[in-house]
Amino acid sequence: MQQKLSFDHLLSSNQISKDDISIIFDLSQKYHNEFGQSKAQKDRKSLHDCQDYILATLFFEPSTRTRFSFESAMQKLNGKIISLEQGLFSSIKKGESLEDMGRVFSKYSDLVVIRHPEMDSAKKFSKYSSIPVINGGDGANEHPTQSLTDLYTIKQTKNRLDNLVIGIVGDLKYSRTAYSLIKLLSLYPNNEFILISQEIARLKDSHKEKLLNNNINLRETINIEDEIANLDVLYVVRTQKERFASEDEYKKVNGKYLINNNLLKKAKKDLTIMHPLPRLDEIDTEIDSDQRSKYFFQAEMAVFVRMALINLMKDHKVEF
Ligand code: NCD
Repeated sequence: MQQKLSFDHLLSSNQISKDDISIIFDLSQKYHNEFGQSKAQKDRKSLHDCQDYILATLFFEPSTRTRFSFESAMQKLNGKIISLEQGLFSSIKKGESLEDMGRVFSKYSDLVVIRHPEMDSAKKFSKYSSIPVINGGDGANEHPTQSLTDLYTIKQTKNRLDNLVIGIVGDLKYSRTAYSLIKLLSLYPNNEFILISQEIARLKDSHKEKLLNNNINLRETINIEDEIANLDVLYVVRTQKERFASEDEYKKVNGKYLINNNLLKKAKKDLTIMHPLPRLDEIDTEIDSDQRSKYFFQAEMAVFVRMALINLMKDHKVEF
């Protein structure tokens, strides 16, 4: 008997409890074991877990990993996919509301992943949807399935989700993955967050207030050199060029940090270095072969976590 998650739609990492995480990760681990190491069909007992189900992937913003890892996940479980890659060419362009689209897609598929540049877009889409909706990124707000992938990666590399010193570096103002990750990791005891960014790229006050109200141990700085030696996890994010008001403002933030061999000389031997990707120039390719660099492993883990989520959510019937 499959265990039940506490949410129907997945719109924000606020909805995810520790119990949900353990249900999702147990199944992710099962898929990881079956599909990760061997390509032999005989080793894959779960091949038909999503047979006859349809996943709709609706992307109104560019995506490589999120869309393809969801689609790869569904294909591995023998489900079907309908996909909108350039959402702005759809009837949204004619002025159709997200709410109406949500209503309609409930009749076309069993589960929807949506990415859209507006905050709360997935929530609007879900308003009249009778099938589960997954937020694949709503503007600079949230990206809950990326943070589940990030947590699963940390669990695999550090063997724990508590008692960690986590440095998050880069454009924290617009990074939805950073915000969702902090919320999820703060469910576990004794985690300390060091937010490293230029002053103008700090976490938004509204986001920070919400975190501080939950007594999160969080500190802000602009200097990575002074912090690197104490970190267990270093989470790097790119500058979100598309969300800046002007090129000048973007230039004030971009290119201020570089993770390279020189910086890592001071770091712990068992540091885990992560990045949700795409990487631009914030991580030097010279560290790709360093055994502490886990960003490509992290991208691989996304498939197993999304396989688990799809299977756990696919039968939810949503009341509205
Ligand atoms: C991130 C995103 O889209 O928020 N990428 C991803 O989903 N793997 C990070 C980014 O675009 O910088």
